[in-house]
Amino acid sequence: MKQDVFVKGAAHTSIIHDSAVKHVTGQADYTDDLMMPEGTLHGYLGLSSVAHGRITTMDLDAVRKAPGVHLVLTAEDIPGVNDISPNGLHDDPVFATPEVQFLGQPIFAVIAETRDQARRACQLARVEYDELPFSLDAIAARDAGMGYVTKPLKLARGDMAEMESAPKKLQGRLTVGGQEHFYLESQIAFAIPGEDDEVIVNTSTQHPSEVQHMVAHVLDIPSNAVVVQVRRMGGGFGGKESQMNVFCVTAALAAKKLKRPVKVRPDRDDDFQITGKRHDFVIDYSCGYDETGKIHAVDADFYARCGFSADLSGPVTDRALFHADNAYYYPAVELRSHPMKTNTVSNTAFRGFGGPQGVIMAERIVEDIAYALRRDPLEIRKRNLYENGQLTPYHQEVEDQILPRLFEELEASSDYHARRQAVLDFNARGGTIRKGIALTPVKFGISFTATWYNQAGALIHIYSDGSIHLNHGGTEMGQGLNTKVAQVVAEALGVDIGRIRITKTTTEKVPNTSATAASSGSDLNGMAALNACEQLLARLATFAAETRGIAPEQVSIGETVRIGDENLPFADFIRSAYLARVQLSAAGFYKTPKIHWNRDTGRGRPFYYYAYGAACAEVSVDTLTGEYVVERADVLHDVGRSLNPALDKGQVEGAFIQGMGWLTSEELWWDAKGRLRTHAPSTYKIPLASDRPKIFNVALADWSVNRENTIKRSKAVGEPPFMLPICVFQALNMAVASFNDYRENPRIDAPATPERVLMAIENLR
Ligand code: MTE
Ligand code: MOS
Repeated sequence: MKQDVFVKGAAHTSIIHDSAVKHVTGQADYTDDLMMPEGTLHGYLGLSSVAHGRITTMDLDAVRKAPGVHLVLTAEDIPGVNDISPNGLHDDPVFATPEVQFLGQPIFAVIAETRDQARRACQLARVEYDELPFSLDAIAARDAGMGYVTKPLKLARGDMAEMESAPKKLQGRLTVGGQEHFYLESQIAFAIPGEDDEVIVNTSTQHPSEVQHMVAHVLDIPSNAVVVQVRRMGGGFGGKESQMNVFCVTAALAAKKLKRPVKVRPDRDDDFQITGKRHDFVIDYSCGYDETGKIHAVDADFYARCGFSADLSGPVTDRALFHADNAYYYPAVELRSHPMKTNTVSNTAFRGFGGPQGVIMAERIVEDIAYALRRDPLEIRKRNLYENGQLTPYHQEVEDQILPRLFEELEASSDYHARRQAVLDFNARGGTIRKGIALTPVKFGISFTATWYNQAGALIHIYSDGSIHLNHGGTEMGQGLNTKVAQVVAEALGVDIGRIRITKTTTEKVPNTSATAASSGSDLNGMAALNACEQLLARLATFAAETRGIAPEQVSIGETVRIGDENLPFADFIRSAYLARVQLSAAGFYKTPKIHWNRDTGRGRPFYYYAYGAACAEVSVDTLTGEYVVERADVLHDVGRSLNPALDKGQVEGAFIQGMGWLTSEELWWDAKGRLRTHAPSTYKIPLASDRPKIFNVALADWSVNRENTIKRSKAVGEPPFMLPICVFQALNMAVASFNDYRENPRIDAPATPERVLMAIENLR
C-alpha cells in the first residue's frame, strides 16, 4: 500500500495549534468553564498555620455553622486510605493528622454553596498545636539530621585518584533557587457523582490515570468506578503531575458524600502555599583539571530541598545527577544526591525535572576553569565536549553527539567571537553599564527514568461518514501535543487534518497511561496513534483488495482512495467498508525500545536518545542598580525532524523565557516561621513580555534527524530548551567580573536577581 497525495496538516508542517484561535478568543473550555449542573457546591481547603506541630485541638464548630456550609471534611471522613503519595511511600496525607509538617498543609476541607463562603468559613477554624522543631532548607535539615525523604543515588565512573593527580583543582558551592510553576490556570477539580460508587472527575492534571487511582484508594472504590477527564490545561509545567491529587480527591469525596457536584479551586495565594515547586539545590563541587582546561575528575554533592514528603523527589534528584555532566566528558566522576526532608511544601516536577539543576553545575565548573586560566569559557566547553563512544557517569554511551556542529553554526550566526571582543572592549572603557556574553550548550536525556512509564496507548475510530475520532493517553497543556498527534494520524491515513477530531483525554478510552511529562508526550502517543493507524490501514487495504481481487499493495488510502485503477472519495470508501462489516476502530500501543536502568548499580541506558541545543546571550548591566537587560539572544536547537516547526519554535521560545525567569527574577522566600512570603505576582516576579531579549533569534537545526526510530525521526522539545538561558546567567556573571578584570569568577548564585547582581558588584568594587 502506498500514499502519494499531499495531505493538509501532515507531519513536519507548521500548522496552527488546534486550539490557538480558541485560546486567544476565550472560547477554549478549561475545567472552570465547564457547564455546572444545578446544585453544584464549592470546596475550599483549610490549612495549617505552623511549620511543624502536633494538632492538640481542632475545633471546627464555627466552620460548620458558617453561612452556606454543607459539609466539613477531615481525615476521619476518608473511607479508604488517607494518602495521595504518587510513589507508594504513604507519606503524603490528604488531610494531615495528627502532625502537620509544613505551614500551609491541608488539614480539613469545607464544602459550601459558594466558593467565597467556603473560603471564609475555613478562616473560622480554631486549631491549636504543640509546636515541634523544624528545618526549612536543605542544609539546615542536614545539620539537624532530618534525613532523606527517599533513597539517595550515587553515580560513579573512572578512577577518582585523578582528582588528586590533576595539575589543578578547584572547589565551590553553587546555590540554585527553586521556582513556582505559575501556570495561568490554577489547580482545579470538578467532581460529578454517578450511581452506585461511580464518580466523574473533570480536572486539569498531567496525569489522569494517577488521579483515577488516588480517588479510588482514598474513596475505597475500584478504579473502574472512577472516570478522569482532561480537555486541556492552562499550563502545567510539571506542577500538575502529582499536585492535582489533593484537589481531586477532596472534590470526589465531597461529591459522593453529598450526592452533588463539587468544584474545588484554590485562590492563587493558596495554590502557592499548597502545591510543590521546583527543588532548590545547594551543590558542593570539586574538579581536577589541567592547564589546557581539560577536566580530569568531578566530585559533587547535591542537596535538595524536597519538602515534607518524597512526592517525585527521587526521580527529580536522580535526574539532577544524570545531567550533572551536561555535555561534558568527566574521565573520573562521583556524584551523590541528598534528597533532604524539610518542613516546607513537598517539591515536585518542574520542566527539566531536576536536570537544569545538574546542568548548571557543569556550566559553573567550566566557567570556574575559564576564569582560573583566563580563557574564553567557550574554549573550555569545546575542549570537554563528549565524543561519541564516551560513557556518561551512568555508563550510557553517547552515540548521537551533534554539539560541535551546533556550536559552529551558532558561533557564526550569532557572530560570537567579534561580539565577545566588542564586549571586552566596551567594558575596558569602564562605564556604568557593563556587558557580558556567553554561549552555552544543552544535552538532555529523553525517556522517563522509571522505565515502565515509557508506554502509551491511543484509540482511533473512523465513523461511517468518514469523520475520524482521535484519542490518546497524553494531555494537552498548551504544548501542542494534540496537534502533533493529529498530524501523525493525518499523514498515516493520508487524510486532511480537518477530518480528525481531537478529543479530551479520559481514563475511559485509554487506560493505565503515564503522566504527560519528561517531554515524551509526542514520542510516546504519536507512536501509539501510528500503531492504531497501521492496524486500520491494513484492514482497509485487505478489504479493498479482496473485493476487487487485487493485491493490497495496489491500494492506496487517502482523501482519494485508489484501488487499482478505481478512485473514490474517502467517505464513500469508508461507508462501503462499514457495510462490509470491517472494524473501523483500533487501539494502538507503544513502548520505547532499548532502554533499561538499574538504580542499585547506577548503570544502564536510561535514555533512548539525547536532545541538544545551544544559545548565546548578551546582557547589559546597570552597575548602579544591578538591573539588566538581555540585549540579544540567539538559539539553535535540535528537535530532530520537527513534527511541527512552528509549535517547536514556540516551545523553545517559551522554555527559554521560563528558564530565564528561574535564573534571574523568580525568587521564593520563606520567613523564619516557614511561611512562604512570595505567594502572588506582587512578590514573585515571573518574566514579562518586556523582559524578553531585545533581539531574539530562534532557529531549529533543520538538518538534524533522530538516529533512533522515533515518531517521524523527531525529538522531544518540551524541556530541553529550558536550560538554554544558562547563557544569560553566565553573561551576567561576566559583566560583573569585568570589575575585577575577570581575574575571578564572581560566582553569583541563582536567581541572579538585580539585588544579587548589585551585591556581587559591591563585593568586587
Ligand atoms: N508548554 C506549554 N505551553 N505548557 C506547559 O505546561 N509543560 C512543559 C513542556 N511544554 C508545558 C509546555 C513540560 S514540563 C513538559 S514535560 C512537556 O511540555 C510535556 O509535554 P510533551 O511531552 O508533549 O512535550
Ligand atoms: Mo514535565 S516537568 O516532565 O511535566
